[in-house]
Amino acid sequence: MQLERLLQSQGFGSRKTCRALIECGAVSVGGVVCDAPKQEFAPHGLAFAVDGQPWRYREKVYLLLHKPAGYECSASPQHHQSVLALLPAPLVARGVQPAGRLDQDTTGLLLLSDDGPFLHALMSPRRHVPKRYLATTKHPVTEAMLVALRDGVLLHDETQPVRAIDAQIEGPHQLWLTIDQGKYHQVKRMVAAVGNRVEQLHRERLGGLALGTLAPGAWRYLEEDDLAAIPYPVPQN
Ligand code: URA
Repeated sequence: MQLERLLQSQGFGSRKTCRALIECGAVSVGGVVCDAPKQEFAPHGLAFAVDGQPWRYREKVYLLLHKPAGYECSASPQHHQSVLALLPAPLVARGVQPAGRLDQDTTGLLLLSDDGPFLHALMSPRRHVPKRYLATTKHPVTEAMLVALRDGVLLHDETQPVRAIDAQIEGPHQLWLTIDQGKYHQVKRMVAAVGNRVEQLHRERLGGLALGTLAPGAWRYLEEDDLAAIPYPVPQN
């Protein structure tokens, strides 16, 4: 692939912008400056740098972000910054989107990608990918609340009860809740339906993928073994 085309595919701007970047000596490949926009490279896994910043060619990108509180998942946020503001500009330019939404005040695991079919499959209600949340509550958590959450609660505007796959106590005011649907404010509404109130909400796990030690606001690429933990077959980069 020509270097200018390769950079364009990775979110560095139009063909013309990429050509100018290359011609001014801002791009190196394998540690050597390349100022020839039409030079051909095998893209698969290619290591390159733009303005000294290292990158690797990826046909599609899959990211894990530790969403902090105070960010919206929408690309056109209403009251806060978008989570996309936490990512480098080329990743946003290539069309990375969150897989589903967390509320502005919810923290924790958020997947993002520019792979449309992957996002679509992950968000499909038919897929039932389990998501595990830690909820901190206003009132003490009781065994009766956990039983009701596991048995199913009827939410306002719903005709069928929604069930937690699992509900476990973590502390007097904390519970783990695993759900496999993605209804609007689902955890908060379920906890409200059993007479309590969520004061803080944190997503720890999605499928077999855990947030791990990423600091709030930090992100990393998901590699093949991470993706294998999510029940979806992903093409390899
Ligand atoms: N359920 C909620 O209520 N809020 C979230 O952000 C995610 C799940």
